[in-house]
Amino acid sequence: MTDVRQIDPTEGALAEVIAPLINRAYALAQEQLFTQLTPRVSEESVREIIADGELLLAERGGVVVGVVQFRQLAERVGFFGMLAVPPEVASTGIARELLISLESEAARRGLHSLELDLLQPESPTPHQTRLREWYERRGFVAQWTRPFSDVEPGAARFLRQPTDLTRFAKTIPGPVS
Ligand SMILES: CC(C)(COP(=O)(O)OP(=O)(O)OC[C@H]1O[C@@H](n2cnc3c(N)ncnc32)[C@H](O)[C@@H]1OP(=O)(O)O)[C@@H](O)C(=O)NCCC(=O)NCCS
Repeated sequence: MTDVRQIDPTEGALAEVIAPLINRAYALAQEQLFTQLTPRVSEESVREIIADGELLLAERGGVVVGVVQFRQLAERVGFFGMLAVPPEVASTGIARELLISLESEAARRGLHSLELDLLQPESPTPHQTRLREWYERRGFVAQWTRPFSDVEPGAARFLRQPTDLTRFAKTIPGPVS
C-alpha cells in the first residue's frame, strides 16, 4: 500500500534521501533531452522546499518511493513539478497515487485549476510522449507553449533538439451542492 502525506517543514533531514531519489528518477528523461547531464536538484534546494511545506511524499512500508512539489501560483491556481518515482519502483502506480492526492488537495483548498509544465521536443522522445498522453487522459489541457530557450536559456544550451515548454492545466471541480 502507498501512503501519501505532506512532509512537515521540520523534516528537512529527509532531503538526504529525497534529492538523490529525484535525480535518479530524472536521469533517463534528462538523457533523452539533454547532451549534458546535471542533477535535477540539489540537497540544499530540497531542504528549502521542505521548509516551505511544499513537498508531498509517497511511502511504501516506511520507504520513500516518490515525491512531488506542490505550491500555489495564485489564489485559485495550484502548480506541481518535480514529480519523481525512481526506476526500481516505476510503473507500479505511485505517480498515479501522487496525482490523485494532489487533485484532492487542490479541491480541499478550493482551487479552480491545477497546472504543470512539460518539455516537448520537436521530435518527441518516448518518455515525454508517454507523459503528455497520461496527463491528457487525466484531463489536463495544453494552455500555451513557448521555446524552452526563452524560459531557461542556460539549460537550453544543452538540448539535443529544439524543444518547447508547454503549460498544462486541469479544472478542479468545486464541491457538489
Ligand atoms: C513520470 C513518472 C513520475 C511516472 O511514475 P510511475 O510511478 O512510474 O507512474 P505510474 O506507474 O503511476 O503510471 C502513470 C501512468 O503511466 C502509465 N505507464 C506506466 N508505465 C508506463 C510505461 N512503461 N509505458 C507507458 N505507459 C506507462 C500508467 O499506465 C499510468 O497511466 P494510467 O494512470 O492512465 O493508468 C516517473 O517515470 C519519473 O519519475 N520520471 C522522471 C521524472 C519526470 O519525468 N517527471 C514528470 C515531470 S512532469
